This record gives sequence, C-alpha cells and structure tokens, in this order.
Amino acid sequence: MKKILLVSYTPRIDSNTQKLVDAYLQATGDTSQITPLDLVKEPAPLLLDDHVNALLKRNYMGMALTDAESKSIQKIDALLQQLLDTDRIVIAFPMYNFSVPATVKAWIDTLVQNGKTFKITDDGAYEGLCHGKKALILMTTGGDYSEEPMKSMDYAVPLIQSCFGFMGIESHAITAYGLNQYMDRADDIVHDAQQEIARYVSDSSSW
Ligand SMILES: Cc1cc2nc3c(=O)[nH]c(=O)nc-3n(C[C@H](O)[C@H](O)[C@H](O)COP(=O)(O)O)c2cc1C
Repeated sequence: MKKILLVSYTPRIDSNTQKLVDAYLQATGDTSQITPLDLVKEPAPLLLDDHVNALLKRNYMGMALTDAESKSIQKIDALLQQLLDTDRIVIAFPMYNFSVPATVKAWIDTLVQNGKTFKITDDGAYEGLCHGKKALILMTTGGDYSEEPMKSMDYAVPLIQSCFGFMGIESHAITAYGLNQYMDRADDIVHDAQQEIARYVSDSSSW
C-alpha cells in the first residue's frame, strides 16, 4: 500500500478547506497508511540564520556539521525525511494574499534541499530526485481565479506545483474558487470540489 502524507493548514473554525480534506479521507477509506501533518499545530521552522548557514554548509559545500549545527536543522531534516519516506502527498490550504499561506511556504522551504530532493548535474542542470512520488493539492479561495485577469493572480498553485516539479514530484490541483465572491453558491462549489476529489482518488491511474 502507498504511504500518504496528509499536510494541512486549515486554521479557521468551520474551514471549507477542511471539508475538502474530509472528502479526501472519506474517498480514501482506509486511513491506516496516512501520516497527518497539521501545520497549524506543528508549523515548520522558518529558514533563519542558523538553518540557512547549516544547510548551505552541508548541502552545497559538502562539509560536516558541528553537533550544534546538526541540532539546529533537526526539525528541518525530520520534515525532509517524512517527505522522502512517503509515496503520496496531499496538501490542503486556503489561498492567502494570492499565494500559499506562510506556513505552507515554510514547509516547502524545508524540503527543497540540494542532494536530497534535487541535485545539480555535472552540466549544471537541475534534476528532481523524488521520482515516483505524486502530490494532490487542495486549495480554496475567496475570489474566482478560473479566468483572466484573475487567473494570473493565482500565485499559489503555480508556486507549489513548481516546487513539487523541481523535486521530481508530479502534482495535480483541485481548487474550490470563489467561496467569498459567490457566497450564495459556496456550498455547491465545495460540493463540486469534493466530488472531483472522490473521482480523482477512485481513478487509480491518477492516484
Ligand atoms: C489572511 C487571509 C488572506 C486571504 N487572501 C485571499 C486572497 O488573496 N485571495 C482570495 O481569493 N481569497 C483570500 N482569502 C480568502 C480565503 O482564501 C477563502 O475564504 C478560503 O476559502 C478560506 O478557507 P478556509 O475556510 O479553509 O479558511 C484570504 C483569507 C484570509 C484569512
């Protein structure tokens, strides 16, 4: 059975994004292979000075770290290992300020590591190292980004898909757009996204 990492950031009471997560759990049925990572309760560390310098020293300069340096990136490496150990990733979040919430970006920043999830080849190109992994992105938004000029203002899905792609992870996004813009239709929009999730999960060739 595939191991699944379920990453969520759904801090709002009665979160619509959480309703997409619930639809995913229901569609999956057997949840025994799911490892939850709740970024509200366990936010990923930000890349502050100790972290960045230790990561650069190890991942780009190939130098051994002191115990203190290793300790400073322990949590980052635990999150990296969690990704390396999984086959599938489900990540759910609401759009914040046209992008992913900072907590989600912080999680991604712990994962994109030279020599671990991607490498630089001898001719200077980048190559993802996470072959075979797939990600499902679930996002809700207040506005409607399905058409231009709003479409280009969705920096969330392109950002997270670029980061996954950079690491060699194939991804698919299911979005519930316009939950504030079309408030009277919000339940229907969430319901449609839930159906789309169920279809995606039941189609084993996609998932
Ligand atoms: C801090 C904050 C920033 C937001 N920024 C945007 C935004 O840039 N674009 C947008 O369409 N909706 C934005 N929203 C609305 C949420 O994305 C939308 O209501 C979403 O469905 C909330 O999901 P939830 O019910 O899981 O909290 C924002 C909401 C919050 C709380």
